Amino acid sequence: MRLIASSWLPPAKSTVAADYDLLFNFILFAGLIIFAIVVVTMVLFVVKYRRRGKAGKTSGKDHNLVLELLWSILPFLLTLIVFDWGFASYIRLNVAPANSLEIKVKAQKWSWVFEYPEGLTEINKLVVPVDQPVKLLMSSADVIHSFYVPWFRVKADVLPNRYSSLWFEAIDTGEYAIFCAEYCGKGHSEMLGIVEVVTDSAYAAYIESGTKLGEGLTLEEFGKQLFTSKACFTCHTIDGKNSQGPSFFMRFGKSIVMSDGSQIVVDENYIRESILSPGVRIVSGFQPIMPTFQGILKEREVDALVVYVKSLGKQ
Ligand code: CUA
Repeated sequence: MRLIASSWLPPAKSTVAADYDLLFNFILFAGLIIFAIVVVTMVLFVVKYRRRGKAGKTSGKDHNLVLELLWSILPFLLTLIVFDWGFASYIRLNVAPANSLEIKVKAQKWSWVFEYPEGLTEINKLVVPVDQPVKLLMSSADVIHSFYVPWFRVKADVLPNRYSSLWFEAIDTGEYAIFCAEYCGKGHSEMLGIVEVVTDSAYAAYIESGTKLGEGLTLEEFGKQLFTSKACFTCHTIDGKNSQGPSFFMRFGKSIVMSDGSQIVVDENYIRESILSPGVRIVSGFQPIMPTFQGILKEREVDALVVYVKSLGKQ
């Protein structure tokens, strides 16, 4: 059982996962056993009772009450077991314990944004304490995504204009992958994240250092750090090669052509606008695919990124 389970699902790492696997395997093996009984009996009967020439006579028996009751009542009982078990598991999977730590998730093409109760936001990395129920309250900024962590056996669609939620309680520290399980466009397969399950004290330290992020750094140093931690690099380079978005190298102060044919000079305000309302003015030759960072970045973080992009233009 263990061997078969592990050959198609990763190890169970949340409190609900073991029960989920057991039910899944119960349904699977009950189905296989019934399939074998039906098919083997059918093949045996086809051979044993085959027509042997013109003289062969069909038996006069047309029913057997005991057998018919058995093959009706036993499968019915089996479905009742699965229903009861499945319903109880479903409720457990869907009702988060009252003491859950609540973290907001915003999905957008093509990244995950996590917002902690303390105000800290993080992109593509979710840090949670071990042995603590965590409830995710999720919504999408654009299309339908699906939040999926196979190790925890949890998955839920993430929809625009409404909240969906799921919860889990990790039983082991470690790093587990987050997948987007709903085709959401070109970057779908790269919409990946990591759940980092850590000890209570490591979690407290993480929140503490996260909320103090950038303290003691100059705006330029902080911007450089944010360029990496906010995953800007997935679409923008700093070496002059254009990727999904324009490169930041030597951009500042330059005149560029926009998609509507107009020309603008890249200044602080244009960078700020591009971060907070990226759809307003698109550089010619690029698609309007950048998600907004409105509400994700704090004022000082926007300032830092502006200074950083500016510093790349001066080189
Ligand atoms: Cu988001 Cu697929």
